[in-house]
Amino acid sequence: MKKVSWVRTGLRLIVMVFIILSLWGDSAYALLGKDSINGTLTAMDRKILRIAHRGASGYAPENTMAAFERARALGADMIELDVQLSRDDHAVVIHDTNVNRVSNAKGLVRNMTLEQLQKLDVGLWYDPLFKGEKIPTLEEVLERFGGKMPLLIEMKSPAIYPGIEQKVADLLRKYRLDKPSEEIPEVIVQSFNSVSLQRFHKIMPSVPLAVLVSNPLELTDGRIGEFVQFAQYVNPSLDAANKDNIQKIHKAGMKVFVWNVKHMLDMALLQNSAVDGIITDYPDLL
Ligand code: G3P
Ligand code: CA
Repeated sequence: MKKVSWVRTGLRLIVMVFIILSLWGDSAYALLGKDSINGTLTAMDRKILRIAHRGASGYAPENTMAAFERARALGADMIELDVQLSRDDHAVVIHDTNVNRVSNAKGLVRNMTLEQLQKLDVGLWYDPLFKGEKIPTLEEVLERFGGKMPLLIEMKSPAIYPGIEQKVADLLRKYRLDKPSEEIPEVIVQSFNSVSLQRFHKIMPSVPLAVLVSNPLELTDGRIGEFVQFAQYVNPSLDAANKDNIQKIHKAGMKVFVWNVKHMLDMALLQNSAVDGIITDYPDLL
């Protein structure tokens, strides 16, 4: 066998052993050593939240009741979902700013009324098994899951939805989800748009906020110092979640949820980096 093939085989073996140890439980952590920040705690001693990205979207169509129910059935600790506004200003749960990818219609969410949006089938594109799934309203989600299952609510593209912060806050108040935060908050509101988050914070300071970050270079000491004025979490993409950035966020007193983590090996490495939550399409993998 050529030298290159031997190297490849060796690498594959190392990855396989690591995954088997991860599955075994805390053996992987024994291999990785003690927690780098706390010194004495191992990763297994900490509670790392398993957050279902757009619901358990690896198993059911994203941002539907089916995906949220699947997340609950799989034992996820929290459900992540995306919120936008319809033409008649209802808070609706959908990721893209148009309906093209997840339905058989075309058009912007902003240009469609709630009635038009809820006529669409958003399950069929994923699998015929999910035919009939509708775009939920935020209110429907709060009614079914509020207070029963922690929710990570993303205000999606708030710049094109003036008033979305007030709308979300009003609904949280209606369902009494505006309480001061607990160990695992009932609700966290997140956005890539820090101006929108600051606006939300003024309206409802009791609800914890998370700043989403996809560019690792954005996590300067200066920006982290700004975030800590209104947010309790900084949620970086997997690319932006290096050990240095995670430590900087923790040092500033905020927690870290990393997205969107799809592979077991990344999950194991993140657990050892002391993250507080992992946002994933496959919450049962963690
Ligand atoms: O929760 C983080 C993640 O949802 C942000 O990305 O595009 O899936 O909304 P996206
Ligand atoms: Ca999202």
